[in-house]
Amino acid sequence: MDLYQGLLTRRSVRQFDTSKKVSKQDIEEILKAACYAPSAHNKQPWEFLVLEDLSIMDKIREFQPWTSFAKNASCVIIVCGNTDVAFHSRENEPYWNISDVDCSLATQNLLLACHSKGLGACFCGAAPIISIVDGLRKLFNLPENIRPVAIVPIGYPLETPKQPEDRYVPAKVHWGKW
Ligand SMILES: Cc1cc2nc3c(=O)[nH]c(=O)nc-3n(C[C@H](O)[C@H](O)[C@H](O)COP(=O)(O)O)c2cc1C
Repeated sequence: MDLYQGLLTRRSVRQFDTSKKVSKQDIEEILKAACYAPSAHNKQPWEFLVLEDLSIMDKIREFQPWTSFAKNASCVIIVCGNTDVAFHSRENEPYWNISDVDCSLATQNLLLACHSKGLGACFCGAAPIISIVDGLRKLFNLPENIRPVAIVPIGYPLETPKQPEDRYVPAKVHWGKW
């Protein structure tokens, strides 16, 4: 698939063929693509929790209600940032940590890798929504320095989501001055 066409045609997929499993090799290749995302100071702070027993999605749904479709996926990858590893502020300034940005970029790579393989996937949010971060931390015993950013159900698509109207809005582009 041509990369530019892939960028334009990737869509969130929420209906999956429950009779088909995504292979371990495909999951590993998708994770590899995620790891080639850019990251601040090249810290690559991402870590991944791969779930194949999706009975746990009923629990996740209690604090992340927009994942209700996910239990029909073949697997779910939770993309997390290690905030100890991520580029972060030093003393003498308000604290910041760039982990969410790095992990969002890794997630986009992951979504595009799924699309390139004919798989469907959807970014379901976690950080910075504290109730979702805490819910996942509690459920999976994640350490304090592990911050979940995205919950990504993946499977063989049962739907072909409609392509949107042209999303390029020239008025949103400010050439040279605002
Ligand atoms: C940060 C973020 C959080 C999202 N959370 C959810 C979610 O919890 N559940 C869901 O079904 N879709 C979620 N989405 C997917 C968006 O709804 C979707 O990307 C948007 O409607 C555009 O559609 P497209 O991905 O097909 O282009 C999320 C997307 C982003 C970027």
